[in-house]
Amino acid sequence: MREALNDKGCARIDGFIRSEYHDRLEAEVAGIADKAHFSHGQITPYFNNDEPSLPEDHTRRRFSAFSNAFVAMDWFPENGLCLGLYRHPAFQRFVTDCLEETQLYTFDDPLAGVVANIMPEGSSLPWHYDTNEFIVSLLTKKPLSGGEFEYCPDLREPGDEHYDDVKNVLDGQRDKVKTLSLELGDLQIFKGRFSMHRVVEGKGERHTAIFGYAKEPGFIGRVERTQQVHGRVLQAHIDAEQNARSDGLDD
Ligand SMILES: [Fe+2]
Repeated sequence: MREALNDKGCARIDGFIRSEYHDRLEAEVAGIADKAHFSHGQITPYFNNDEPSLPEDHTRRRFSAFSNAFVAMDWFPENGLCLGLYRHPAFQRFVTDCLEETQLYTFDDPLAGVVANIMPEGSSLPWHYDTNEFIVSLLTKKPLSGGEFEYCPDLREPGDEHYDDVKNVLDGQRDKVKTLSLELGDLQIFKGRFSMHRVVEGKGERHTAIFGYAKEPGFIGRVERTQQVHGRVLQAHIDAEQNARSDGLDD
């Protein structure tokens, strides 16, 4: 895991969830899929607004259709597999070790600790970079076809966006693209800050459970971001907003 993460920023553990639990895992997330909050729009790989001063074909002006849906943590069954895994100290330790961190913490956020990403047929998650450093996810429903995860390891680096390389990928060049096919119950850890990635459109629904961990204790998402992702906020978000972020960053 560590080697794959250091080398390609992406690691998969096949069959992390044993097959006798697959039906239960799939049913757990499928059972709350209708609680998902949908959002859609047009995005660039950087989620920036249009910048008309740049040439029309610049990667910061290349918008693609984007649609996504997330089920918040408070819909997950309290005694289910997903919350059990998220809160399990051994799982937390394992993720921490894979990422070679000293300590990671579960979120205090009542909506964002574990979320389900629901992609009905026709959803699109086009090429983009993540704002968060890493993502831990578990495939709970495999689409009938397609739905592969594609990524370009270290396509950009701190201080250099490598716009030409990004443009080549957006134009369909495949030499820097790696593909990861996931099966139900496979665990994936991915560092998406520098590796542009997407989910290929497929047939049938694709569900993943996403586990959020932070380097500092007490993480609660910002009101604006929470409203965007979940379509609602709780008192905990409003209260936390009044306390300044320890890192002094906006999000
Ligand atoms: Fe992403």
